[in-house]
Amino acid sequence: MPKPYPKEFRDDVVRVAARSSPIGVDLSEILPAGREVPGGSASVWSQVHLAADSRFGYDWRRAEGETVQESQNAVSVVGERVSGRRVRPTEEWLAYFQQNALQQREIPWQSDGVGASPAEMAPLRRSLQAWQLGETSDGRHLAASAARFAAATDDPAYCDVIDLFIREEQRHGALLGRILDDAGISRRQADWGDTLFRRLRYSITDIEVWTTPVVMVEVLAMIYYNAIRRATGSPVLRAVCAQILADEVPHVRLQCERLAVLYRNRSRPRFHCTRVVHRVLFLAVMLLVWVGHHRALRAGGYTWTEYRRAAYAKMNRAWRRMDPQCYVWT
Ligand SMILES: [Fe+2]
Ligand SMILES: [Fe+2]
Repeated sequence: MPKPYPKEFRDDVVRVAARSSPIGVDLSEILPAGREVPGGSASVWSQVHLAADSRFGYDWRRAEGETVQESQNAVSVVGERVSGRRVRPTEEWLAYFQQNALQQREIPWQSDGVGASPAEMAPLRRSLQAWQLGETSDGRHLAASAARFAAATDDPAYCDVIDLFIREEQRHGALLGRILDDAGISRRQADWGDTLFRRLRYSITDIEVWTTPVVMVEVLAMIYYNAIRRATGSPVLRAVCAQILADEVPHVRLQCERLAVLYRNRSRPRFHCTRVVHRVLFLAVMLLVWVGHHRALRAGGYTWTEYRRAAYAKMNRAWRRMDPQCYVWT
């Protein structure tokens, strides 16, 4: 099992993060002299791991496993500090998405395939087809819900944020589509999980009810793409997973913050009732993802027990971020 990050490192990270802006965090001073964090758009989560990698020679790709509770704790502390426990204004999210679109990672595309053997791709192919389809959506329904929410809250810029969010998801779909094409795997037009999830979303116009299953799927997506990255030696697929993972962390945060705004005027008993409904729904979504993708998850080292534990660790963090009492409201 990888070593936890030394306390000295965590203290440094927290100190630096406490002084950082809500969106950017300058971790340069915790890196060894002359080293830079690769990928300026990497999430804080990735940046901390990269910094540790640089400073202590860790393999953060292995060290990021859920077993490294110490590093997870350090990263959540950073997240709390960086966010300043306040909901980011829409303009900050807009700036983030605009900047992130310009700072995409270099993907080492190859002229012949993706550099993965057929045996390696066997447990992944059906699953990748389904996720590629899931990441490919025109976002019309979300855009319509967001427009209503923006009008109701007098926050027109929110529509632009959601527009960029949709484009980012479409970029994920395009990256996975090219992976499938290059690996000689056909793209699917339908998948039961995708159809079920789309029907659920499309039957709903309320932004709260729409956002809730989306957060849950995005939380599970982080485990899924981590599994794929661990399951393959393909530099192309690993780079695509790293890009998607870096993007998904802020996605979850954005959705959690919007839900916190919606829950702000809800009484605590009603808030707790909502949480009970969430728990039931999350159990169902988590089971469905396991049923549909357990071969790929297992290939990435997740047994059912590890998957469930990782899923609840991440979802508990998301639930904390949905709680309006976790934020300072000005
Ligand atoms: Fe995505
Ligand atoms: Fe996402």
